[in-house]
Amino acid sequence: MFKHPDFKNLHVVDHPLIQHKLTHMRNKKTSTKTFRALLKEISLLMGYEITQDLPLTTEVIDTPMVTMDDAPILEGRKIAVVPILRAGQGMSDGLLELMPSARVGHVGLYRDPETKLPVEYLVKLPQVEGRTFIMCDPMLATGHSAAYAADVLNRAGIKDEDIRLLVLVAAPEGMKVFEEQHPDIKVYTASLDSHLNEKAYIIPGLGDAGDRLFGTF
Ligand code: URA
Repeated sequence: MFKHPDFKNLHVVDHPLIQHKLTHMRNKKTSTKTFRALLKEISLLMGYEITQDLPLTTEVIDTPMVTMDDAPILEGRKIAVVPILRAGQGMSDGLLELMPSARVGHVGLYRDPETKLPVEYLVKLPQVEGRTFIMCDPMLATGHSAAYAADVLNRAGIKDEDIRLLVLVAAPEGMKVFEEQHPDIKVYTASLDSHLNEKAYIIPGLGDAGDRLFGTF
């Protein structure tokens, strides 16, 4: 994983297995079934990388052999996974396999056809206190949905420093918008792609992540 030189908060998870799987996801010949499985696998692997800094403490346990008084265990800090619907669900599945005790929040947004701005249709979040919130959405394209979702979390009392954004592919345009609006949220991506096209699709990208994930073409 490396910090991208163009954005102070952007971390690129460049593990070879993740890059290999992402290439299969980009390939238009990849089936819905495989696309879904790969997104789950990549999310689990990215989840492993982005939780490297979770604080550990120690506890006393009895192994079958001895008493061990410095057994490492995660400190009390709890995790919540927050998929931005609908494509974010494809990533939360992998994160929950890695962290089965995590709570799950949902933020459902759609784009108003007139104003082109995000409108919320579902917000359901777990208790805020002492939790790290991992928002996930495969595509950071214009950045408006992710920034709006972070606003929703802020309104619920969650501070930017307790939020992380996990995406699969980011566009520079979206990263700029997101970083301007939420300069204290760390963003993790498997790739920073070239640009957005005139329809706000990421190039080279992988097409519509929600449609490819759910088979709704
Ligand atoms: N959303 C997608 O699913 N794909 C893009 O390329 C951009 C936004």
